[in-house]
Amino acid sequence: MSQGKFITFEGIDGAGKTTQIEALHAFLRDSGIEVVRTREPGGTPLGEKIRGLLLHEDMDETAETLLFFASRAQHIRDVILPALARGAWVLSDRFTDATYAYQVGGKGCSAQSVLQLEAMVQKGFGPDKTVLFDIDPESAAKRLALSRTADRFEVQGTDFFSRVRKAYLERAAREPERFVVLDASAAPEVITRELLEKAKGWL
Ligand code: TMP
Repeated sequence: MSQGKFITFEGIDGAGKTTQIEALHAFLRDSGIEVVRTREPGGTPLGEKIRGLLLHEDMDETAETLLFFASRAQHIRDVILPALARGAWVLSDRFTDATYAYQVGGKGCSAQSVLQLEAMVQKGFGPDKTVLFDIDPESAAKRLALSRTADRFEVQGTDFFSRVRKAYLERAAREPERFVVLDASAAPEVITRELLEKAKGWL
């Protein structure tokens, strides 16, 4: 059996990831591929409890970073690796790039510490492909305001999201083979077309 693929989706809050992940999920399923759709923080019973803490409790930034990796360790062991081993494709709404973008880029945590945690938890494991939905923070904030009540991250201002966006774009520029950067300010159907076009090349 062929090994599955691990695809992650990233972008600042309000970039419109969900609709596009759904579209890719449907496309892969229709192509006869088993798809496991998951998210971070979360993806496991323990991870979902950690998610509740992360999104709603005020906490120290080191505690926050450690909790993201705690959720990730469980997620990799219980969901991601078993799915890949049986040939499924795993679509994860966020993964470690988000820690570099939000905790390092947005909040100024040490990149070195995150690198160490990444090595400890992932042991070299990472996404095969990462789709970055790029959008300016003002447009993203408008979208978010229309859609839901803000969590602890979403209440941050546009300066914070500008730093997060910059960190994402820098990571994408350093790893062009892994990243696909899509203009998330385009119409949803245009973004879907571009995404599926890319995905055909991954089959
Ligand atoms: P979501 O709303 O896209 O599900 O993500 C939850 C929030 O957690 C979002 O604001 C981004 C943030 N986050 C981090 O700050 N660091 C991380 O490592 C991850 C995975 C998410």
